[in-house]
Amino acid sequence: MLSIKNLSKHYHEKTILDDVSFDVQAGEVVVLLGKSGVGKSTILRILTGLETKDSGSIIFDGQPLVTQKVGMVFQDFNLFPHLTIEQNIMLPLQKVAGKTEQEAQNIADQLLAKYELSAQAQLYPHGLSGGQKQRVAFARTLAMQPQLICCDEPTSALDPLLTSKIGQEINDLALQGLTVIVATHDTELIKQIKSTIYLMKSGKIIEKATSQGLIDNPDQFPFIKNFTQGGTFDTTNN
Ligand SMILES: Nc1ncnc2c1ncn2[C@@H]1O[C@H](COP(=O)(O)OP(=O)(O)OP(=O)(O)O)[C@@H](O)[C@H]1O
Ligand SMILES: [Mg+2]
Repeated sequence: MLSIKNLSKHYHEKTILDDVSFDVQAGEVVVLLGKSGVGKSTILRILTGLETKDSGSIIFDGQPLVTQKVGMVFQDFNLFPHLTIEQNIMLPLQKVAGKTEQEAQNIADQLLAKYELSAQAQLYPHGLSGGQKQRVAFARTLAMQPQLICCDEPTSALDPLLTSKIGQEINDLALQGLTVIVATHDTELIKQIKSTIYLMKSGKIIEKATSQGLIDNPDQFPFIKNFTQGGTFDTTNN
């Protein structure tokens, strides 16, 4: 289980995260939902070690979280433009996980087959569609066998059909026992994922719902309901 307690972050004088606490079980997907600037990516960046926290604790299975257990799928995919798709997946396996070229190639080829990308293995990222790039990004992250996966706006560049596929992909990761956190403001995506949803505002969590609870009883979750229906409960920043 991942347990985040009293996480706070400031940049200069500005409060970005204000006493954020939540747990994620293995096999559970948590969705961090909220408008631009509320601090969703900052939480993921702290979990992946790209950013430091000011205070609070992050415990994974009883120990402080180590970044080797964390995989991140970035909003803009972060693929290396000068490497082929296959090389994009192989590089971290060789450089970070210490695999031989042959081992890395075997892992890459298996994942490319799983993601229906074998035909694209020798292409460069610019030759792929947005959805294909997104699948490469997932494959590259999964190749490292993380226990916690953070997805930052995984559907920002995708059409509704691909959004639905990524939703299924995220559900599958949880079914495999991974711990998954998704930051998004895509209300189409959250309809596809079986999850626990935390709505954020100004660096705080203001409402929690399960995706099933939201379907069964939307009126119990007025802020999330409003957000998912494109409401205007708050037209100020964040
Ligand atoms: N390195 C930084 N220095 C100063 N301020 C930052 C830095 N990174 C983020 N911020 C600020 O922190 C706040 C939260 O940013 P964050 O990227 O976490 O928001 P978000 O919820 O992911 O938004 P979006 O939906 O647009 O991705 C914003 O006001 C942003 O300007
Ligand atoms: Mg963000």
